[in-house]
Amino acid sequence: MNWKNDLTRTLKIHYPIIQGPFGGGYSSITLSATVTNLGGMGSFGAHHLSHDEILTLNNQLKSKCKGTYSINLWIKNDSYNDFSNQDFEKTKAVFKPYFDELNIPVPEKPVLTEDHSYGRQLEAILKAKPPVFSFVYGVPDESVLKECKKRGILSLGTATTVEEAVLLEDAKVDAIVATGFEAGGHRVAFADEPENNLIGGLSLIPRVVDAVKIPVIAAGGIADGRGIAAALVLGAKGAQIGTAFLACEESNASHAHKNVLFSQKAEKTVLTKSFTGRLARGTDSIVAQETLQDASRIAPYPIQGLFMRPLRNAALQQNKLELISFWCGQSAPLIKNKTAKELFTTLKIETESVFNEMADIA
Ligand SMILES: Cc1cc2nc3c(=O)[nH]c(=O)nc-3n(C[C@H](O)[C@H](O)[C@H](O)COP(=O)(O)O)c2cc1C
Repeated sequence: MNWKNDLTRTLKIHYPIIQGPFGGGYSSITLSATVTNLGGMGSFGAHHLSHDEILTLNNQLKSKCKGTYSINLWIKNDSYNDFSNQDFEKTKAVFKPYFDELNIPVPEKPVLTEDHSYGRQLEAILKAKPPVFSFVYGVPDESVLKECKKRGILSLGTATTVEEAVLLEDAKVDAIVATGFEAGGHRVAFADEPENNLIGGLSLIPRVVDAVKIPVIAAGGIADGRGIAAALVLGAKGAQIGTAFLACEESNASHAHKNVLFSQKAEKTVLTKSFTGRLARGTDSIVAQETLQDASRIAPYPIQGLFMRPLRNAALQQNKLELISFWCGQSAPLIKNKTAKELFTTLKIETESVFNEMADIA
């Protein structure tokens, strides 16, 4: 099978298999480097890191990756400090019973430092010059994308609808990740509220492929070679895989999280804002269920995420796992590999065998 296409040429990779970025501390240098060094593209989610941490991260990735890797940011408007103390008291009241159950204090409103602002993070990306800057939740300013081009940084935007894909192409990004609602983690919509456009990959991928000329990478629900082959048949030039790589020993997810991904619990996922302030897919939990109906008391990102972090950590430490959701895509029950090398090799072999079988039938 010939894996070469516009995407592999643009990204200078051998196989159009991308390990999706994991923000919030779930990425690891080892995971990204393993995938890059096997000929795919490893990614690192950096939206929670400061300017200086991103510079250090890039040095580490550069020394471990013998090929293309990406650093990923969330586009933010940095207006979180507008969330009033009065509103925060309401958030505290909703979640207090869960903190009480774990016998830990309800945290005060988190203070956010300027060094973690999107503006400072961008400065770090432009300074660090990773091979690829990937992003979600919007389109960076024209000046930023021009500066990336000037510095030889490829840009990768993420769309949840055709409209968003067209906005990204108009901004002249190098490729687009089209992410279906099966995906684990956040629904990264930016042209509309995510709840208004929960489009599955089977519909989204060919529609985006028809609407834009630049290479499209399919994401969401791909966990084996059949998924990659399907994405390619639908016209995507590559596949971005999250949950299956998250389950590998090289990722920075907790052991409890990895166990959940291989368990019965992964059969059912829900979309919830309770843990970060933004809609995200994870396993079902008491907190998700009890706050699903009324999202109005949830603080905006990133306040909600920082507020809930002690609760998540305490639930893990006290083994009260039923309280919290673990980020997880709808195809988690398909996962079978426990190391990134094994997963990557299996994905290649399975994809090739799907196309070989199709050739035999023809
Ligand atoms: C724990 C977790 C964190 C994620 N964080 C990010 C992120 O910060 N930026 C991003 O572009 N995508 C993020 N994603 C999405 C993945 O990179 C990938 O696109 C998605 O998981 C693909 O769908 P799948 O889980 O069905 O394979 C995250 C996914 C998970 C499961």
